[in-house]
Amino acid sequence: MRVVRDPREMQDLALAKRRSGARIGVVPTMGFLHEGHLSLVRIAKREADWVVLTLFVNPTQFGPKEDLDRYPRDFDRDCALCEAEGVDVVFAPETPEVYAPDHTVYVVEDVLTRGLCGASRPGHFRGVLTVVAKLFNLTLPDVAVFGEKDAQQLRVIRRMTRDLNFPVEIVGGPILREADGVAMSSRNKNLDPASRRIAPRLYQSLCAARTAYEAGERRMAALRERVLETLGDLSPGAVDYLEVVDDVTLESCGERADAPVLIALAVQFPGVRLIDNIRLD
Ligand code: PAJ
Repeated sequence: MRVVRDPREMQDLALAKRRSGARIGVVPTMGFLHEGHLSLVRIAKREADWVVLTLFVNPTQFGPKEDLDRYPRDFDRDCALCEAEGVDVVFAPETPEVYAPDHTVYVVEDVLTRGLCGASRPGHFRGVLTVVAKLFNLTLPDVAVFGEKDAQQLRVIRRMTRDLNFPVEIVGGPILREADGVAMSSRNKNLDPASRRIAPRLYQSLCAARTAYEAGERRMAALRERVLETLGDLSPGAVDYLEVVDDVTLESCGERADAPVLIALAVQFPGVRLIDNIRLD
């Protein structure tokens, strides 16, 4: 396995690979890898001949009051995990190499980013799309794999890829969870013990809505109510958002959830914001 730091070197390597006819797969990450990330690597290995995992904590997607400084990092462990999974290249650039000090160009999506994390994290998706576009240009993938854990991100990246004609196939991977249902996340490490004990309620509450949906419940307010009931008492203001949206447009599904819906929620714990979602079809 090769570790590449220099963006130009990464691009030259990818260009040579493409010219040799290899199919390139890319898994973009911010590191502190867990099984969720590794499951995407396994998908990429099935889909491509040569797999690049990018490891870059992208400052432009963090708001000024967010956890950029506290984002967990462990480069050596990440590399060992990648090596064990058969990753071909870990691309881990430094911030000044990624962003010119006077950079002025960004990628912005206007509609799918209006709600959910887009509403509560202004500028977040601009940062995500900009870095993903740059990573695509540096690693030249045929296929790129992203997790359903970040459902809005996946849909927004698909939209960018379509609207800007990136010749990249976007593949989604299912959410991997801990034994107690908590969606795996690098940020789980920063949960205090009390918050970690409450965290399983996020998925339990989504499952309660699914049970109601499977029993025929289609009223949006009732589905929302099931989630809130199961979430129970969290500290005031802890629920950042809880939305039942159309799975494709990400617009509120209105009074009835008749088309496939996504129930997405974000909960703010002390110093850590967790998101989770479930698709009902
Ligand atoms: P990061 O949070 O490190 O996640 C990298 C990829 O892993 C994303 O596609 C995410 O959806 C996926 N992922 C995270 N937790 C998962 C889980 N429990 N199960 C399955 N997949 C999971 O998402 C980002 O980084 C960044 O925004 C990035 C796209 C790299 C741009 O900076």
